[in-house]
Amino acid sequence: MDIDKLYAIALEASRASYSPYSRFRVGAALLCSDGSIVTGTNVENRSFGLTTCAERNALVTAVGQGKRSFSMIAVATPDAEYPVSPCGACRQVLSEFMAPEIPVIFGHKADDLVVTTIGQLFPYDALHELGK
Ligand code: THU
Repeated sequence: MDIDKLYAIALEASRASYSPYSRFRVGAALLCSDGSIVTGTNVENRSFGLTTCAERNALVTAVGQGKRSFSMIAVATPDAEYPVSPCGACRQVLSEFMAPEIPVIFGHKADDLVVTTIGQLFPYDALHELGK
């Protein structure tokens, strides 16, 4: 699976965004180690703090399907004017299931993608010993 294809799937997922408050659509596409792809979008709430991000929704959907091993994630933010990276909370939650070298792709348009890793986005990750 190449980066552009996974980004296109994330972009498609952003069409389902429920974001009447921010009007900021986000789509995430998670490539699982078994080759399957799980998508998610942001789901806002009128009690604003209950909003959940696209990345976390994709991840919890995948884990709920028994998938715990991932090889890449792409995030599309088509309403932005620049590539928008995963928020701090999502970086923490993604790091629970993704090793530091796992690629993260994000962008607001297909020809301006940022390609990085979980380790770059969430350095000095801590507390792994609690999961042992
Ligand atoms: N959002 C995401 O879904 N992922 C991110 O990484 C950044 C923020 C959503 C939350 C909210 O619905 C909207 O984008 C504006 O913050």
